[in-house]
Amino acid sequence: MKWLIRNTGELDATAASFLETVKDMKVFAFYGAMGVGKTTFVKALGKALGATDEVSSPTFSIVNEYHTSEGDVFYHFDFYRINNIEEALDFGVEEYFYGGRRCFIEWSEKIEELLPPDTVCCYFRELPDGSREIDIDDDVLNS
Ligand SMILES: Nc1ncnc2c1ncn2[C@@H]1O[C@H](COP(=O)(O)OP(=O)(O)OP(=O)(O)O)[C@@H](O)[C@H]1O
Ligand SMILES: [Mg+2]
Repeated sequence: MKWLIRNTGELDATAASFLETVKDMKVFAFYGAMGVGKTTFVKALGKALGATDEVSSPTFSIVNEYHTSEGDVFYHFDFYRINNIEEALDFGVEEYFYGGRRCFIEWSEKIEELLPPDTVCCYFRELPDGSREIDIDDDVLNS
């Protein structure tokens, strides 16, 4: 499945369509270059899920926890600054990944081997005209 986001005005509709497509999948690894729009998309997903706080980058921590108006919880991870797998294991990353709540993960390349087998890989790309493309692996959705 693939989405084209031509401008930031299309983010909300894309987030809604994305959530409908992935249904009850829980762990999402966002791949793509710096500045491609991963955090921006998590913000849009947060809004679509009814987050009670606006999503911001987990700059000083690895994970931010969000609550939704429906009483749900989701997590936003950014592993950019992590130094090794042990650091992730030490703060209990596996409890989050297998905890049954949604996890949106930036820079999971750093902890690749800790991702659950049913992680939905989402590939972000900026096109020459500045629009963004999000591509997800259909196999995992049908498994
Ligand atoms: N769909 C989009 N269309 C146009 N501009 C966008 C889109 N998504 C994000 N941007 C812009 O790209 C910039 C960087 O976005 P963002 O911080 O989300 O990137 P990132 O992938 O999270 O980067 P990093 O890897 O550094 O965390 C922001 O200024 C944002 O407004
Ligand atoms: Mg980011």
